Amino acid sequence: MKWALIFGASGDIGSKVAEDLADAGWSLYLHYYQNREKIDEISQKLTKKHPKQDFITLQYDMTDADNISKICDSIFGKLNAVVFSEGTTYYGLFSELSPNNLDMMITMQLRTPLRIVQSLQDKLAESEFGRIVFVGSVYGGAGSAMEVGYSTVKGALSAFSRAYAKEVASLGITVNVIAPGAVDTQMNKIFSESEKADIDAEIPIGRFASPDEISYWVLVLLSEKAGYLTGQTLYATGGWLK
Ligand SMILES: NC(=O)c1ccc[n+]([C@@H]2O[C@H](COP(=O)([O-])OP(=O)(O)OC[C@H]3O[C@@H](n4cnc5c(N)ncnc54)[C@H](OP(=O)(O)O)[C@@H]3O)[C@@H](O)[C@H]2O)c1
Repeated sequence: MKWALIFGASGDIGSKVAEDLADAGWSLYLHYYQNREKIDEISQKLTKKHPKQDFITLQYDMTDADNISKICDSIFGKLNAVVFSEGTTYYGLFSELSPNNLDMMITMQLRTPLRIVQSLQDKLAESEFGRIVFVGSVYGGAGSAMEVGYSTVKGALSAFSRAYAKEVASLGITVNVIAPGAVDTQMNKIFSESEKADIDAEIPIGRFASPDEISYWVLVLLSEKAGYLTGQTLYATGGWLK
C-alpha cells in the first residue's frame, strides 16, 4: 500500500488530489485547518468507496511553524509522498500588506512546509520511492502586481525544490512544483462574474482550470515511473503568463 500526506486536503485542489489518489489505490493522511465538516465528508466518502484503504484526518494550523511534531509524530508506518496544497493570498499593494499577513503567508506556505520536509525526509527515504510535490503558482515564476507577497512565497518553493532535489536524489526522493494559473476554486470566489470573464479573456485556453486538471499532474509526479523528473516546476496555466 502506498501512503501520501496531503496538506490542504480540505481545499478544492487538495480534495481532488485526495479523491484521485484514493481511486489509484493510495491510503492517505488528510490534513485540514478549519474545515472539519469538509474533511469528515471526504474521509467518509473515500472510506466507503475504498474500504481496504486507510484515510486519517489531521488538523494543524500551518501559521504555527514551531509545533510540527503535532503532524509529523502522527505519521505511523511508511510514507511515500507529501503534497502541499494549502494556501492563501492577500490581494492588494505590497506597500499596504500588513507585516502580520506577510509573516502568516511566509510561515504557512514556506517555513512550515520546509520544516515538515526536514522532519519527514528519513521516512520518505525509507519507502521504496519518495515524492514531494508543492502546489505553487504561475505567479511564482511570472510575478504578479497586487499579489507580491504570494508570488514571492511561491517563487521560493520553486527555488527550494530546485536545490533540495539535488540533495535527496540519491535517496530516491523527487521534489517538484506544479504551478497552476487560475483554477476554479474557493480561492477565486472573490472575483465577480465580470472580473472572471476578463481573466478568461486573458488566458489563451479561454477559461480557468478545473481542480482535476491540476490533480492530474500531481498524480503523474507522484507515480513511481516519474522518478527521473526532479527539481522542476511544471506550469499548468492554459498558456497564461508563462
Ligand atoms: N485557485 C487558484 O487559482 C490557484 C492558482 C494557483 C495556485 N493555487 C494554489 O493551490 C493550492 C490550493 O488552493 P485552492 O485553490 O484549492 O484553495 P482552497 O480551496 O481555498 O484551499 C485552501 C486550503 O488551505 C488550507 N489552509 C488555509 N489556511 C491554513 C492554515 N493557516 N494552516 C493550514 N492550512 C490552511 C485550507 O484549510 P481549511 O479549509 O480546512 O481551513 C484549505 O485546505 C494553494 O497552494 C494555492 O496557492 C491556487
